[in-house]
Amino acid sequence: MSEISSVLKESRLFKPSTDFAKRAHFHNPSAYKKLRAQAEKRPDKFWADQAKHLYWQKPFKKALEWKFPFAKWFIGGKINAAENCLDVHLGSERQNKAAIIWEGEPGDARTLTYLQLSLEVNKLANGLKSLGVKKGDVVGVYMGMIPEAVISMLACARIGATHNVVFGGFSGEALRDRLNNSKAKVLLTQDGAFRRGSASALKGNVHSILDQIPTLEKAVVLKRTNQDTPMKDGRDIWWSDLVGKQSDSCKAEALDSEHPLFILYTSGSTGKPKGILHTTGGYLTQVKYTTHYTFDLRDEDIYFCTADIGWVTGHSYVTYGPLMNGATVFMYEGAPNYPGPDRFWSLIAKHKISIFYTAPTAIRAFMRSGDDLPRKHDLTSLRLLGSVGEPINPEAWMWYHDVIGGKHCPIVDTWWQTETGAIMVTPMPGVVPTKPGTATLPIPGILADVVDRNGKSCKANEGGLLVVKHPWPAMLRTVFGDKERYTKTYWADFKKNKFYFSGDGARKDKDGYIWIMGRVDDVVNVSGHRLGTAEVESAIVSNHKVAEAAVVARPDELKGSALVAFVTLKAGAKAGNPDLDALKTELKNWVAKEIGPIAKPDDIRFADALPKTRSGKIMRRLLREMVTTGKTSGDTSTLEDFSVLEKLRQDEE
Ligand code: WT7
Repeated sequence: MSEISSVLKESRLFKPSTDFAKRAHFHNPSAYKKLRAQAEKRPDKFWADQAKHLYWQKPFKKALEWKFPFAKWFIGGKINAAENCLDVHLGSERQNKAAIIWEGEPGDARTLTYLQLSLEVNKLANGLKSLGVKKGDVVGVYMGMIPEAVISMLACARIGATHNVVFGGFSGEALRDRLNNSKAKVLLTQDGAFRRGSASALKGNVHSILDQIPTLEKAVVLKRTNQDTPMKDGRDIWWSDLVGKQSDSCKAEALDSEHPLFILYTSGSTGKPKGILHTTGGYLTQVKYTTHYTFDLRDEDIYFCTADIGWVTGHSYVTYGPLMNGATVFMYEGAPNYPGPDRFWSLIAKHKISIFYTAPTAIRAFMRSGDDLPRKHDLTSLRLLGSVGEPINPEAWMWYHDVIGGKHCPIVDTWWQTETGAIMVTPMPGVVPTKPGTATLPIPGILADVVDRNGKSCKANEGGLLVVKHPWPAMLRTVFGDKERYTKTYWADFKKNKFYFSGDGARKDKDGYIWIMGRVDDVVNVSGHRLGTAEVESAIVSNHKVAEAAVVARPDELKGSALVAFVTLKAGAKAGNPDLDALKTELKNWVAKEIGPIAKPDDIRFADALPKTRSGKIMRRLLREMVTTGKTSGDTSTLEDFSVLEKLRQDEE
């Protein structure tokens, strides 16, 4: 039985250029194949070998202990994350290398070498200790993209405190719930951050609600914007007052490999956010490995991952991965469209960025504003591009490849999740040919597969469910404080096989490449065919007038469900097409032609914007509710812009 019908057809293939492949960490395709095969047979041995690239205060005795569904990695080992990011580079040629090159939104800039970063981390670590923070305590971080955000994470890691970073754009209520759920003792925050040309308050916004967090003893406030900021006597303290008097040396705690490194909240499609718990040794091992090989990282690179530290991508691929590898990380404070929609391109040109890692939602937004903007800037320093967060539709992939990558940069489409902790499926850029729209192959040591409901591998091109068949080092260990939810959400669907279920629908093509078809919750059933919404959306977006599309289903007496497509048009397309009804018909026929009449939307609605989470994911659940019940309920705390929903609702009436 085919679980999901796959309708997307894409056959373009891009081989790694010989120039790129020659110098790549992985450059021999047959050696790579062999390594994958070996790692598949003995994944624990493979990961134990990778773990040896870390600095262990005490070596581990055994790679994996697996008591379904709870895994422990690198048993008996003692390790410290901050030490692996900083101290390992001191006393070497990297000591005075730039660890972070940072640019603020107004254009101010700072560079921190590995030595400077390490001294700052030590001072804050001592400061936290002086506030009574001990190994095992939880520290909240509510900051923007400034070096101190990274310093905060590493300072916690150094003393064995568990960090809980809450995205700086979240509301006070969202912060309160997350800090309460994790029982945070101290909060690290800042007065405000520069965003879209003005100073927006962080501390001031959440000041009064901090009283509703009974476990919170202290809030440490960094001055970034110097705006007026309320402070509560006895609880709130300025960063400079705390850190100024601290010693710049601080011992890195010897922590058990399974010591909790961080909790990060992720919203489920329904219900309250889950605190995803990650531990130390296994997480660091897979993050270090994937950063080195996926981005083919070298000492001379300037690496720019645009994710905010409030997301897992900011944890793994802004902070821990690049720093463990001794890379130079470029960090930018502000909005991508300030002062104009070409800020990223001007940053790339100015700082000679060589590796650029961003999300499809951003790429589609850039496409929407046209090719002229990137073409105005010299992007020739780029040598590799990455994508994460959603399926990248082939149209966006091609644009990224041609206009940003100048047709010569490999694109690594990386599939992973907050829960997986690190990259799982991606083309190793020197050896795996890419196809627009697929994250390609599981990396060595990751046993990912597409299976039917009984856990049986699907045939080529048969749609099914994406699972992981063997524990992996960076996997989540539990949902903080809720083992039952952990077991039920991730391990109940394939209990018999002991597989992890990702929640994603996918298919594997004849080359074994994995094509993500979207979240299974988003699968729609039309006349008995289960279609992945991502594929229908991809077909709509391949029309040159369309910028973005979200497809959901509403119940239909005849077909079971009918497809409703919410579409935003490219700049100019609306003005050029005054007859929107004609355009609707054109798009419906377009889909019928691209993938077949079965996927033809019954209804098309034009919108100025789609409801998205703060990390850029379209909230299809809200659209689905809107087209079925006319209302929206459930958790909307992660919605970026409420007015978008309001606007859609009005259009509805
Ligand atoms: C979900 C995880 C991993 C960091 C950012 C998102 C989707 C992620 C891809 C990709 C297709 C992707 C999946 C996944 N997703 N990367 N390269 N191709 N889909 O983390 O918020 O935990 O979301 O994002 O649906 O399950 P997250």
